[in-house]
Parts: sequence; structure tokens; C-alpha cells
Amino acid sequence: MNIPFSKVPLGGNEYKYIDEVLKSGWLTTSSKALRFEKLFSEYVGVRYACAVNSCTSALHLAVEAAGIRKGDKVLVPSLTFTASAEILRYMEADPVFLDVEYGTGLISPSVLKKALDKHPDVKALILVHYGGQAPLMTSHEGDGILDICRQKKIILIEDAAHAFPAKFNDRFIGSFGDITCFSFYANKTITTGEGGMLVTDNEEIYKRAKIMRLHGINRDIWERFTSNKSSWEYDVVAPGYKYNMPDVNAAIGLAQLEKAEYFRSQRQRCASFYYNELKNVPEIDLPVCAGPLENHSWHLFPIIIKPGAKVTRNDFIQMMAGESIGTSVHYKPLHRMTYYRDTYNLVPDDFPDTERIWNGTVSLPIYPGLKDDELNYVCGTIKKIIQ
Ligand SMILES: Cc1ncc(COP(=O)(O)O)c(C=O)c1O
Repeated sequence: MNIPFSKVPLGGNEYKYIDEVLKSGWLTTSSKALRFEKLFSEYVGVRYACAVNSCTSALHLAVEAAGIRKGDKVLVPSLTFTASAEILRYMEADPVFLDVEYGTGLISPSVLKKALDKHPDVKALILVHYGGQAPLMTSHEGDGILDICRQKKIILIEDAAHAFPAKFNDRFIGSFGDITCFSFYANKTITTGEGGMLVTDNEEIYKRAKIMRLHGINRDIWERFTSNKSSWEYDVVAPGYKYNMPDVNAAIGLAQLEKAEYFRSQRQRCASFYYNELKNVPEIDLPVCAGPLENHSWHLFPIIIKPGAKVTRNDFIQMMAGESIGTSVHYKPLHRMTYYRDTYNLVPDDFPDTERIWNGTVSLPIYPGLKDDELNYVCGTIKKIIQ
């Protein structure tokens, strides 16, 4: 068997919709992107969606539209991809890195409260839904992440690169914070090849993001070429960016969106398989699912090789590769990356739980096309290597 770490599920209407785009003769942002925005916002249950060329772009537009500027402090977990923090540096703002909870890999309300006591001048939180699930967002007692942000008047920006479709209680992620950003990168839960989406209920934020998405021009391309006002006439109201999503990509996104829940349920099947087969392996800690399995998008299934095990994480990855099984690591924490470590004088001792995760974490293959006999082979190989 040969089991890659990730494999894109295609086979729906991708070819049909791309064909429609090619035949239309209009390859950049147009009706497919508009439709993708409309259907995505309806799916999530949010008023506005802005399709862009990556989640990184969406996050950049989010902090720009939220008014994060030079010298502002913004909380961000250390256990994440660099995009979650680098966009703060684009604005010359400063990330304040947080430890995450062992088990879920999420920022917990207690870590957030402590951080806000220590840094009362923080402007915003970038909340990463690590692996595809949300932490406690709201509660009757008012001690969820969203509750705390509201009480302390902190802007909540959600990095939901892993979390579509995912829910907290009965609401989709994307309908909680001030702004939420999704990724449609090739290995994500639904893909457009490269792509992202910014969603918000705030009209001002939406308008600003839409303008900044396309050079700071006050009319978007589609509107310019379809309205009866002359197409050459536009104004530039800010030095914006070039972040729009082309229709070829949106066509793939529309097809993927139709199957998003099917894909999610298939990944849940993989997760359940792993939980069943690996629960009695004492050398491994399995990821903690904070809510019902159905609320998790199951983008990742990161296990942790415990310190006493007979193989190290790095040897384990090598041995799995030797058996033709692809794995990955999410993540080498940002406090260990040269740029952040040296710029902000970060030391591992300040991130004890993130360090415990980092020392043993390995992400297993999880995608809709992964068959039960392949999952069985992965689990058998893990046991052979580790026991
Ligand atoms: C947590 C997180 N945030 C942001 C991103 C950036 O997404 P994109 O590649 O769409 O810019 C990623 C990509 O892997 C991610 O894992």
C-alpha cells in the first residue's frame, strides 16, 4: 500500500463548472465568485462573504479592516501556521504569543483571561480553530472565548483555515467572531486550489475588505463591466491589494461546497476508525475532541507520541515513510521559528503545553478517499512501530 498524507477529493461538478467559466470567456472574478460568496455565506449563516486568493489574504484584509495598526498588540497562539501571525507584521502590529491546551491544541478561556490580565492593552485575538474544532465560544456563565472578548472589548478574528464546515453547539464557525477567515488551499477540507474567504456580519468591515481586496478601487471589476456607468471610470480610495478570487478557482469551490458535508462525514469516519483502533495504545495520546464528533471538520488527526515511547517522533515519521505512509507535523510552534523567537525574545519555557505537543506530535492521513483497509494498514503499522 502507498498512502499519501493528503489527497484532494474531486469527481463532483468541478469539470462542469470550470468548463462553464472557460466557455464564458471571462476568467477572472465574476459570476462564479459572486455565487460562491453567496452560497458560502448562506451555508455558514453570516451576512457577508468576500472571496479572495488565500486565507493569508483574508487574514490580512481582516486585520486591516479591523483597524489594527503599527504598534498594536494582538494575541495569537504559538501552535499555528506562520500566516496567522505574519499578517500582523504586514501592519507593523505585534503578535503576543499564547500557549495552547494539551489535548485540543486550542486557546482556552483561562489562558485568554490570564493573557488579558497581563496585557490589558491588547486590541484583538486571532483565534485558530486548530485541526478543525472550536474551543468554548459562549456559555451561560459568560466564560467562553467570545464572551471574554466582548466583555473586554477585544476584536475577535477567527483563523478558521481548518474549520469548514465546523460548528460550536448548533452554529457554524464563521457566525461568531467579528471576522472569520477560511482557507481553500489544496490540502484543506474544501479547496479551490488556492483561495480563501473572509466572512463577517459587519457591513463596514465587509465594505473595507472588498475595496482593499482590489487595489483600493471603489468599484469591483464585475460591477465596472456590467453597470451602465462607463467601465474606465473609477477612483482609488486607499493603497489596496490584489487579492480577488478568479472564477476558475471559484468554479472548483462551488463544486466542492456541494460536497462539503459529505467530505466532512467521511473524514469523521477516518477519525472514528483511529479512535477505535488506537485507544488502547499507551505510548500515544489521541487528540481530544471538545464537542460532538459531528461538530468537528476533521482537517487534522494529530496524535502525540509520549516521551517514554521506544521511538521518537522524528524516527516514527521516518519509519512510517519507510512503510509508504505519509504523515506531517502541525506545527513547529512559532516561538521556535527564528524570526519570531529573535524578534520577540521568546523562550520555550513560556509555552509548556505547546512544547509537550510539539515534542511528540504527528498528523495522520485523514481524507474522504481513505478506505477502511488503508486505515487498518496505517493503524497496524503504527502499532508495529511503537509497541
Ligand atoms: C492555521 C492556518 N492559518 C492560515 C493558513 C493560510 O492559508 P492559505 O494557504 O490559504 O493562505 C493556513 C494554511 O495552511 C493555516 O494552517
